[in-house]
Amino acid sequence: MNRSQAPIGLFDSGVGGLTVAAAIKKVMPNESMIYFGDTAHLPYGDKSKETIVQYSLSIAEFLLNKGCKILLIACNSASSNAFKEVKAFVGERAEVLNVIDPVIEFVGKDTSHSNIGVIGTKATINSGSYHDGIRKLRPDTEVSSLATPLFVPMIEEGFIFDDISNAIIRAYLSRSELKDIDSLILGCTHYPIIMNQINRFFNFKIDVLDSALIVAEKLKLILSEKDLLSNTINARHQFFVSDHTDYFEIIAKMFFGEKIELQRTMI
Ligand code: DGL
Repeated sequence: MNRSQAPIGLFDSGVGGLTVAAAIKKVMPNESMIYFGDTAHLPYGDKSKETIVQYSLSIAEFLLNKGCKILLIACNSASSNAFKEVKAFVGERAEVLNVIDPVIEFVGKDTSHSNIGVIGTKATINSGSYHDGIRKLRPDTEVSSLATPLFVPMIEEGFIFDDISNAIIRAYLSRSELKDIDSLILGCTHYPIIMNQINRFFNFKIDVLDSALIVAEKLKLILSEKDLLSNTINARHQFFVSDHTDYFEIIAKMFFGEKIELQRTMI
């Protein structure tokens, strides 16, 4: 097979990365994707770096064996803790991209904000990836980070647009760390699902940045530079999970925007 027709491989701890898959489908409808959601080990955000690296390497191997032309770590917790290790492991076999660097690059060029908030899992926030990356490009910018660990289980359990999620969102976002921000990076691929609620909390007065489209555009640029863009009209997607329940199918549809079939596989 012509390498440009090979699928894009992407993974997350669960179904959150499907928000990125949905953006890829929108930006590059000709691309086939192989998605892996490590639902048996979810959440990654509370795990140690060593454990996140170990899971990420196994998934990278799985996706390479499926013939993927490029790997995207569609999980901030894994991007911030395992990117270097996955890149070294994959070596020349494929390009590896994470979901954090494209956002840092985007924010680095955009001088309209000077007090940027970042929310994410404990693993992402404790890594300092966003803070350090943004400050390196724009030392004059204030970056305030806050771990919001309840958001992932809340979303995975389907608490969206209800009193429980509104109370949790209010409890986190009214914290002093985020008091003066003029923009907010959603540093977790689950969070676009609650973007409207977050916008409402801030009365639509700050810019809330969803990284999915930024990442999809960056991926397109890289594939184009490497002459790896697909021109097929028969794009085909496959979705694998390490544990399967009917409930994952339901929320997967919500994240991807259409019904998908999840295949259980061991890694
Ligand atoms: N979607 C993952 C991320 O972007 C977080 C989920 C988890 O903690 O497993 O960080």
